Amino acid sequence: MPYVVLGVSGSIAAYRAGDLARELMRRGFTVRVCLTDGAQRFVSPALFEGLTGQPCLVDTFEEPERGRMAHIDWARQAAALVVAPATGSTLAKLAHGIADDMLTTIALAYSGPLVVAPAMNPTMYGSEPVRAAVEILRARAAAFVEPDAGEVACGEQGEGKFAGVERIAEAVQAVAIRARLLEGQRVLITSGPTREPIDAARFLSNRSSGKMGAALARAALLLGAEVTVVSGPASAPLPIECTVIRVQTAREMLEASLEALRQSHLVIGAAAVADYRPEAAVDGKIRRVDEPIDLRLVPNPDVIATLAEKAGGSARVVGFAAEPSGDLDVVREKLRRKGLHAVASNDISLPVIGFESNNNALTLVFADGRVEESGVRSKLECALWLLESLSEPV
Ligand SMILES: Cc1cc2nc3c(=O)[nH]c(=O)nc-3n(C[C@H](O)[C@H](O)[C@H](O)COP(=O)(O)O)c2cc1C
Repeated sequence: MPYVVLGVSGSIAAYRAGDLARELMRRGFTVRVCLTDGAQRFVSPALFEGLTGQPCLVDTFEEPERGRMAHIDWARQAAALVVAPATGSTLAKLAHGIADDMLTTIALAYSGPLVVAPAMNPTMYGSEPVRAAVEILRARAAAFVEPDAGEVACGEQGEGKFAGVERIAEAVQAVAIRARLLEGQRVLITSGPTREPIDAARFLSNRSSGKMGAALARAALLLGAEVTVVSGPASAPLPIECTVIRVQTAREMLEASLEALRQSHLVIGAAAVADYRPEAAVDGKIRRVDEPIDLRLVPNPDVIATLAEKAGGSARVVGFAAEPSGDLDVVREKLRRKGLHAVASNDISLPVIGFESNNNALTLVFADGRVEESGVRSKLECALWLLESLSEPV
């Protein structure tokens, strides 16, 4: 039975976490509970140990199995982490990676789907720090079970009442199902820019940050895939759970991708591959002269088109198009010419999305003519949307 870690923090609604644990067990999960110090002022570990038949953790240095770090074990084994009720303080800690108790330490060691059910006084819930924490966690694709509006424990009216146990259990079940969407699938992602050397010190490149490729890698992992990333020189950090092959030039990217293609079911070309390279890189450094100099460029191989051709139907190959015009006819022509399953197009002329931005908005054009829009979302949410759209049966 899949494990769920239920983190309970110091809200008066902590008394309802027992019912939530029961409901999750009824739905087939093995529930392991972790209480913050605040939560222990309202409920006790004995309650949850009795209900779940599992140890309930409260202290970071506790080890139910001697010599095994419980925060790592619990984080590795969990199919989902649900924090319910989540206080304002615990939300802020989750958003900023503060790990000063067992629950937030497990959360920092955990990279799977997160469900959060906040509960607090409406003024606290509307406060700037809480809004900011919610936004950060949403951008990381945490599933929020919104609190209800109404009268809260202190008598104030507004938003902040702990959501119903059913609604939270449903959200946990949904993320656990989603986490298996790409189970058994191997996904190959190309990411970042390429660098085409001019001489020993200089190169031609572009503004790709690698953030979209990194988001795709994280999203594919969240959906249960095995992930290989062939990445050009980009600073966006890639999840440690994926295999990363670092390359510099377009030709190196093609070679590494062809090698990985053989085992892949889905290929997503998010890299901004240089269309041209200097004909020959100069040995040493080109010296300054007061005359114009010529730089002759020759076309690079078309990485995504070559991958589509070599895949020959054994893998679905999806391209990205950074279109300054947003013209879908240009995208459709690209899709046909390169023999792709679909193209995800983004309008890089819009300042709120694209290259260095943390947000994006994709238009997904399929070879069969369907067109779908993601709307503006964080790059991780866009990536999840894209992978889910690609896995829907046609
Ligand atoms: C009676 C009582 C009820 C509380 N209820 C809430 C609540 O519903 N939501 C919240 O964010 N904080 C609530 N608090 C404040 C938190 O318990 C406090 O901020 C605590 O430090 C949170 O720590 P934790 O998140 O580690 O449990 C309450 C405090 C008291 C004394």
